[in-house]
Amino acid sequence: MAMARRCALIQIKARAAPDVRKAAMRYLLAALFWLGATAAAQAAGDAGLGRAIAIEACSACHKVMPHQKQPDPVLNPDEGVSIAAPDFIRIARKYGRRPRALRDYIRAPVHPMREQMWDAQDLDAVVAFIQTLPTKRTESP
Ligand code: HEC
Repeated sequence: MAMARRCALIQIKARAAPDVRKAAMRYLLAALFWLGATAAAQAAGDAGLGRAIAIEACSACHKVMPHQKQPDPVLNPDEGVSIAAPDFIRIARKYGRRPRALRDYIRAPVHPMREQMWDAQDLDAVVAFIQTLPTKRTESP
């Protein structure tokens, strides 16, 4: 009698198993989808965050915001000459359609622009911000 009851229990478990497996699969797929969506959002970059980072990390040398005064040229001590950093509208015109080249330049800049330690997400954010800048000459910056 006890034996029969145990068998019945096992049968119930066995019948439940495929449903559990299906549910687990659904969760797994949902998790993978979520991860994929997050990765896509990161690749696109957060322009709002990028704007804040650019003001903080670039505006000492570059004119980042339209109302900002053009900063003084930057001394290149190797050659003893000062070089004006291009304003961000010019950078957007040159690199707006080449985010990868822009990313590479910021990561490994030409002297006297300094190399900085970059978190990938921050770098994508700065690139995304630059891509939002108006590049047509008729648009006011
Ligand atoms: C210490 C000053 C300084 C800082 C800070 C700085 N830059 Fe620069 N950057 C320069 C100078 C100077 C040049 C021009 C280099 C040259 O042409 O030799 C330059 C050039 C560039 C260029 C290349 C423009 C071109 O014509 O190809 C890009 C892109 C750029 N900077 C992006 C940035 C970004 C984004 C930041 C902030 C994360 C930043 N820079 C911070 C000084 C700076």
